[in-house]
Amino acid sequence: MAQTEAKINMDTVIAQMVVEQGLATTVEVDKCRKALKKASEGTDLKQKSLVAVLISNGVVTKRQVERLKPLIEEQKSDRQIPGFQIIKKLGAGAMATVYLARQLSLDRMVAIKILPQKYMSNEQFVERFYAEGRAAAKLNHANIVGALDVGKAGDYHYFVMEYVEGRTVYDDIIEKSKFTEENALNVILQTATALEHAHKAGFIHRDVKPKNIMITSESEVKLADMGLARAVSDREAAEQEQGKAFGTPYYISPEQIRGEIDVDFRADIYSLGATFYHMVTGQVPFDGANPSAVMHKHLKSELVAPDHINPDLSSGIGEVIEVCMAKDRNKRYNNTTDLLEDLQAMARGEPPMQAREKFDLSTLSALEEGGTHVASAANAQVIKPPVIIIAKPSLAEQPLFWVAFVGWLIALIILILWIAL
Ligand SMILES: Nc1ncnc2c1ncn2[C@@H]1O[C@H](COP(=O)(O)OP(=O)(O)OP(=O)(O)O)[C@@H](O)[C@H]1O
Ligand SMILES: [Mg+2]
Repeated sequence: MAQTEAKINMDTVIAQMVVEQGLATTVEVDKCRKALKKASEGTDLKQKSLVAVLISNGVVTKRQVERLKPLIEEQKSDRQIPGFQIIKKLGAGAMATVYLARQLSLDRMVAIKILPQKYMSNEQFVERFYAEGRAAAKLNHANIVGALDVGKAGDYHYFVMEYVEGRTVYDDIIEKSKFTEENALNVILQTATALEHAHKAGFIHRDVKPKNIMITSESEVKLADMGLARAVSDREAAEQEQGKAFGTPYYISPEQIRGEIDVDFRADIYSLGATFYHMVTGQVPFDGANPSAVMHKHLKSELVAPDHINPDLSSGIGEVIEVCMAKDRNKRYNNTTDLLEDLQAMARGEPPMQAREKFDLSTLSALEEGGTHVASAANAQVIKPPVIIIAKPSLAEQPLFWVAFVGWLIALIILILWIAL
């Protein structure tokens, strides 16, 4: 009996994985499942598995199933955490898989992030994971996904958090290509409120991006993964994302790319600006053939102003994004409270005064430094040469012209007189 139940569970895992990996459609798998059920009603095929039917019907090959085995093993172990009933997989990122689960003691739904074994050999990482998990659990804000617990089950470490029934900003970008200015402003405003709370409590998120911003059906924003440790440096983590369409390098700050050790809250301001950019333009700020190319652009390339890509944008939005995304963090907002002030002003239909001030200061200092240089914006990493227009006087306005002309006339008269005489 228990064996049959295990077989059914295993079949469900395999069926899900075959579809997730794009090897077959749900219709094809369902067809095989029905065929298996029909065959099992007889006596001869009782032991046949769904995998065998999928192979015999030509839906998948033996080799494809072999390749799925390690993933299936990982999922099998993932699904046993004492005190929780795993219901379904919600998604997977570069570092972990997230499941929807019922916490049996409190009879409530939670989301559980399970870290793959490969990270667990790193003791320092495990220590940090627990320390940050405990610290994140102290944060309490309506716009931050609540951290509930950290623990270990078998060889796996897990992180229990508030379950958010909704979608990510990434999902919306994929579906709608871009947000309206009003909607984007609303989402960014709520995210900045969450960040302000975290920053004041001494937390830096380090991975603000569309996939970590969730929106509920009531349009409430929840910032996910606050305080989750990284096993590797930001740059390495970014490089691991190679091949993923919307990986971390699109939103990472220059100082994280450089691997600076004193990364502070301004890195989050940069990433929030990059997320805002993507939301209102439908394009990532810097694109490239691979993560290294994208990161190089974060460091060196001038940002194309968001209102050049989407001319319908109000100029205020462009200014806020450009200040957030200044390559030199000293030229960004001084803190999240200043950024919030501008976002709130824009929500009221007023200009972003903090950003304007940054623009003016930046322009002034560029003029003082170079004299002949003019800053294009607060960003101004690439200084544009000044356009100096010197009006040329017409020929008739030049005195030398008249001296030459009179001299030439006198010479002509003398010549005529000499010939005539
Ligand atoms: N608290 C939550 N409630 C509901 N769904 C969640 C929750 N946290 C994460 N998810 C879902 O799980 C998916 C995977 O999350 P995860 O944090 O592992 O990776 P990611 O943020 O998408 O990407 P990356 O690993 O690149 O940072 C998310 O995209 C989201 O759809
Ligand atoms: Mg995440």
